[in-house]
Amino acid sequence: MSETFRKFLRTLPDFPSDLPGFNPAKSPQDPALLFKQWLDDALAAGESQPHACSFATVDGSGRPSSRMLILKNIDDDGWHVATARTSRKGRELSANPHAALNFYWPSLGRQVRVAGSVVELSAEASARDWAERPRSDGSSNSDWQLYAIRPAEIEFWQASNDGAHVRHRFGPDGVLPG
Ligand SMILES: Cc1cc2nc3c(=O)[nH]c(=O)nc-3n(C[C@H](O)[C@H](O)[C@H](O)COP(=O)(O)O)c2cc1C
Repeated sequence: MSETFRKFLRTLPDFPSDLPGFNPAKSPQDPALLFKQWLDDALAAGESQPHACSFATVDGSGRPSSRMLILKNIDDDGWHVATARTSRKGRELSANPHAALNFYWPSLGRQVRVAGSVVELSAEASARDWAERPRSDGSSNSDWQLYAIRPAEIEFWQASNDGAHVRHRFGPDGVLPG
């Protein structure tokens, strides 16, 4: 079984043959603007939920876990996501307010990683997010919490079929070398 499965996995497709280029020097210097460009590109390429990302937290013993979340906004507070405060990730964030996001758009061979500390946004902003959910029924939910990740690092990664993948990294103060 494991040998058959190993061989099967080897038959699955790599990145598409037609990938966009990425020249960081000709890209927006503001990572939020670059992200919005890449999100638009992903949507245009047919990605159906380009605003979905994996969201990793750690428990009190430093053990990681991750799950998918929807990005709600990017502003001066950071990158917004929302969830129940009493969920596993909500409890983990109370104990250790740090998280990592990872977006992946397979049709473009692009990945964006974001990691940093996490703050809780206001009850008003959280209530608005709850009310604006696609399946909202007009109810309120005091457990719903909007969080902002304040990036300590952001990495834009573009796959290339010649193996010369491009990494473009930002720290809190701007572009990082290499
Ligand atoms: C594409 C996608 C988007 C999701 N978006 C959210 C979200 O924005 N907020 C949320 O609480 N759960 C969302 N979920 C469900 C979470 O992945 C997760 O199952 C749930 O929040 C419980 O996680 P936890 O037990 O680790 O706290 C989403 C799942 C998928 C597959």
